[in-house]
Amino acid sequence: MDFQLTEEQLAVQAAARDFAQNELWAGVIERDEHQKFPAEQVKKMGELGFMGMMVSPEYGGGGMDTVSYVLAMEEISKVDASCSVIMSVNNSLVCWGLEKYGTEEQKQKYLTRLASGEIIGAFALSEPEAGSDATSQSTTAEDKGDYYLLNGTKNWITNGSSASVYLVIAQTDPEKKHRGINALIVERDTPGFVIGPKENKLGIRGSDTHSLMFTDVKVPKENRIGEDGFGFKFAMQVLAGGRIGIAAQALGIASGAYELSLKYSKERKAFGVPISQHQAIQFKLADMATNIDAARLLCLQAAHDKDAHQDYAKSGAMAKLFASKVAMDTAVEAVQVHGGYGFVKEFHVERLMRDAKITQIYEGTSEIQKIVISREILK
Ligand code: CAA
Ligand code: FAD
Repeated sequence: MDFQLTEEQLAVQAAARDFAQNELWAGVIERDEHQKFPAEQVKKMGELGFMGMMVSPEYGGGGMDTVSYVLAMEEISKVDASCSVIMSVNNSLVCWGLEKYGTEEQKQKYLTRLASGEIIGAFALSEPEAGSDATSQSTTAEDKGDYYLLNGTKNWITNGSSASVYLVIAQTDPEKKHRGINALIVERDTPGFVIGPKENKLGIRGSDTHSLMFTDVKVPKENRIGEDGFGFKFAMQVLAGGRIGIAAQALGIASGAYELSLKYSKERKAFGVPISQHQAIQFKLADMATNIDAARLLCLQAAHDKDAHQDYAKSGAMAKLFASKVAMDTAVEAVQVHGGYGFVKEFHVERLMRDAKITQIYEGTSEIQKIVISREILK
């Protein structure tokens, strides 16, 4: 693994940092407070190439590597983790899945517009009764010859009301268990498809999370991704890469909280000196910086594995498990470094603390990452 970033990677990092500082910072507290979807900001992310970073230029993407994607995710997440989850779902779940496993027709019809950010996508695996236990799908996709009849409910879907295209996982043949599951492309305006109310969340409040209801929704056969029964493997493959994106999101939340703490500790005085001169504060900063560097190395390792076409299920899970803990720990300590000011919205760290928590839950909880890692090391 090369520890030196290329000029292109550094340029992507700088562009993402500029965008986050200049375009996201100013309104982030208000968007969080009012659960406002960052529509304008997402449009700009599309124009800057952040919505389809790894998609090949042939389909309108940036043709970048996963390392660049991690760097951009970190910078954007430092400021607004709602924007970065929208970006992450579009890039690593929807675009990557379609480019890797979609037909040429599906790519022409959907991928080009998704990669440019003209439209955004959603990925619907979780259900009210099936989150971690993802093979227990209740949503059904009955094979009716030239179409599937989709029935059921999906829960907690990011980009739930803002997406135009949904990758929906559903059971076609229950006897075949997970080998009878399919992944279908469902367009937003398909009759019988209803979007539930927006969830009122602890964190990432700018992102829109909704349940999706399907009643006798007809999905043409040509909208199935891969062979019949490939849907669960598709979901697992897509999530293996998605977890690198969420690891980078967690890394960014931690870095953002650390940078704010470092700055504040040099400005705030107590007992006649800046609080950064108290060893208790210095040690908090030292722990934060060390953990963040370790998390970044794991993220880059996983990204490198993916770019080198090596197996990345384990390294991605390790990166997510570790970085999400670092995000949570760092954000809690950042609030402590800020004292009472950390408890109010203007200082940003309380929001980062609330945002950090989701990184230990979605795209596989920390317990699920440990299952993935332990199975890999024991096999
Ligand atoms: N690549 C390809 N196939 C894989 C795979 C991978 N990385 N991991 C597992 N599989 C395959 C297995 O090979 C197996 O298929 P075969 O029997 O044909 O070989 C099949 O998947 C089932 O695997 P398991 O027997 O290991 O299944 P399990 O029931 O024990 O569960 C699990 C495995 C890892 C726990 C899985 O259910 C899981 O990942 N759960 C968490 C779900 C999750 O991450 N949801 C995220 C939703 S999206 C989201 O959250 C987005 C967001 O917030 C922004
Ligand atoms: P459960 O699976 O019920 O887990 C409850 C607890 O039990 C957890 O601590 C879990 O780790 C633990 N547990 C469960 N099984 C085991 C086990 N075998 N061993 C040890 N511990 C176990 N899903 C999508 O499909 N698409 C999305 O876009 C999406 N976006 C989301 C956005 C938000 C804001 C949220 C909150 C969720 C989102 N999800 C999405 C769903 C998310 O992936 C699930 O919430 C997550 O996978 C956990 O599932 P669950 O909530 O059903 O918890």
